[in-house]
Amino acid sequence: MGASPKQRRRTPLIVFCSRTDNTRRVAEAMAAPLNADLVAVDQLKDHQLRGRPLIGMGSGVYWLRLAPQIVSLAARMPARARTFIFSTSGWGHSWGNFYRSDLEKKLQQRGVEIVDRWHGPGQDRNPLFKWMGISKGRPNDDDIRSAREFAQGLKRRF
Ligand SMILES: Cc1cc2nc3c(=O)[nH]c(=O)nc-3n(C[C@H](O)[C@H](O)[C@H](O)COP(=O)(O)O)c2cc1C
Repeated sequence: MGASPKQRRRTPLIVFCSRTDNTRRVAEAMAAPLNADLVAVDQLKDHQLRGRPLIGMGSGVYWLRLAPQIVSLAARMPARARTFIFSTSGWGHSWGNFYRSDLEKKLQQRGVEIVDRWHGPGQDRNPLFKWMGISKGRPNDDDIRSAREFAQGLKRRF
């Protein structure tokens, strides 16, 4: 991404980890209303984090945790950054707070402000469990709309 420092000051960034594409689809739905740059965490360079008005951090839930690459991103956040967190999981849709707790703790220790959170369902394609059809067809159109509306709300606030 070749954005200049001046462009970065106006453009939010969304960083995501998505093994089976559910969180990527949610990230894309959020990026559109925010006009955000979107980057997979494994492609992210530290300079891309600098000077952003807002940074979204998104991940699927794997074995009851957000992806380690997203959790360790907390340590790379610029001081006084402003973030929002989003995630998808096969089950435990009301457990967003639990899944996020490691990341939130690390961000708070670093003094990063968390302005909002979003959690939604994502079809479980883990080879061990996919026969169970957990959250089949999710995120669906309503979930994607919810993600878009969440981002529109952020856009109005920041
Ligand atoms: C290896 C693996 C482990 C998973 N572990 C959990 C889990 O512990 N709890 C849960 O609710 N969903 C679990 N899931 C389902 C994912 O959280 C869900 O499908 C999520 O939307 C995946 O996001 P992604 O498509 O962006 O990778 C797991 C999926 C995979 C592939």
